Amino acid sequence: MVGVGIDAIEIHTGKLCLDLGETFAPEMGDDPDKYRKGLGLYTSSFPDSYEDIVTMGANAAHRLMKRTGRTPADIGRIDVATESAFDNSKPVSTYIAGCLEQVFETTFHHANKGERKFACIAGTQSLDDAYNWIRAGRHRGRSALVIATDTALYARGDAGEATQGAGAVAMLISEDPSLVELSPEQGYGSADETDFLKPNQQFPSVDGKRSVQVYLSRMREALQDYESVAGDTHPDDFAFIPFHTPFPGMVRKAGLLGYRHVIRDTGVEEELAAEIGRQPRPEAFDDDQTYLDAVSEYTDALKETTRYQEWYEQVIEPTLNISRYVGNWYTGSVHVARASALKHALEQDRELTGDRLLVASYGSGAQAEIHTETVQDGWKEEIAAFDIDEHLDARHDITFEEYERIHDIHNHDIKSEDVEEFTTPSDEFVFDGWGRMGER
Ligand code: CAA
Repeated sequence: MVGVGIDAIEIHTGKLCLDLGETFAPEMGDDPDKYRKGLGLYTSSFPDSYEDIVTMGANAAHRLMKRTGRTPADIGRIDVATESAFDNSKPVSTYIAGCLEQVFETTFHHANKGERKFACIAGTQSLDDAYNWIRAGRHRGRSALVIATDTALYARGDAGEATQGAGAVAMLISEDPSLVELSPEQGYGSADETDFLKPNQQFPSVDGKRSVQVYLSRMREALQDYESVAGDTHPDDFAFIPFHTPFPGMVRKAGLLGYRHVIRDTGVEEELAAEIGRQPRPEAFDDDQTYLDAVSEYTDALKETTRYQEWYEQVIEPTLNISRYVGNWYTGSVHVARASALKHALEQDRELTGDRLLVASYGSGAQAEIHTETVQDGWKEEIAAFDIDEHLDARHDITFEEYERIHDIHNHDIKSEDVEEFTTPSDEFVFDGWGRMGER
């Protein structure tokens, strides 16, 4: 059977850049190390006043189609994943298709379009939908365009303000892909949770601390469910494990959870238990808290072992390189993490063809999904064409006053005649008044 997976990928970052340690922390009365070391973030991307989820998604998709020589005739499906949608009826994919039709001067009338919503996991769910559509043989030789686009802004003064970001990831899903092939096995962990909600409101209502615990609980379930279908894992099975990355500090916790799973029932778990003198699954205690304390002591000791730290440095750390500079992109975040790892491997001149990735997606509300991907032999050319550094370097650094202003503009707190632009758009889709998109 022909493999199906990601053939090409492009990223569009919001054009403004906020330095969290230098610019944001002092205004919040925080130590810059809370951001750089605690949350693991240096800067975050923001959309300029002429950017939104449509323009960012359309720009990423246009660049992807142009670079890979695709036209609308090659695309049979456009799925947009977002948790920043502004229209409860018309899907964002129709707005993006409208933009692309202007530059390709031909239509997407033949393409199935939709919008996926389940917080940050919707990007991976759209990828799954595209995969299933192709595997079902309904694609008539065409590819699917999956676009994950979000403005992850929180209310001013909310703890989440530290973990904002904005950008879009466009992925081409095809048969015989150049980048990664998806495996059919998946594991899920899902529950009705209310730690992060956006019921018809501009900014989310978040119980931040609880959201971290919910992420870890659902991820633990998804890892167990994945192993129940795909069999036991081993620490050497995966070149990288890209996790959903709301901020790198979250992945520090998720990485340790992941390691506990991949060493489970392997010789590695026993060797490490002997080394640290603690058991991963302690015998029953008198009360739950004592049991939890014993598990936590094991985990703390495991974290300090050289074997774990070397594994983390090699398998997890490279997935965070881009996220540290762009912040949370919600639906795009795990796809940025995958791209970050592959870019790192290319820079290190590593050979990855045939290696596997364990992709760990998550969305509040809440659901985690685990699946694996196999790196294909076109990965080097594809990642070499990926010019994210150039786009990150071209961002405009904003002062705190500019940050406050752009936040108000996106919250529609500023009258349209007073809206200003901080950068100059060129050759890109821009938001130019309600419903009017076009190249300037
Ligand atoms: N030096 C080093 N580290 C420091 C430090 C310093 N000076 N000051 C603080 N830190 C550390 C803290 O110890 C903490 O680390 P640990 O969690 O490992 O203990 C870290 O920096 C953050 O500090 P706080 O917990 O005090 O930060 P906070 O109270 O401001 O809140 C947050 C952090 C809860 C993540 C908040 O930013 C938030 O609500 N974010 C939005 C919600 C979110 O991203 N949740 C993630 C899971 S849900 C999800 O993944 C979906 C999604 O995309 C939203």
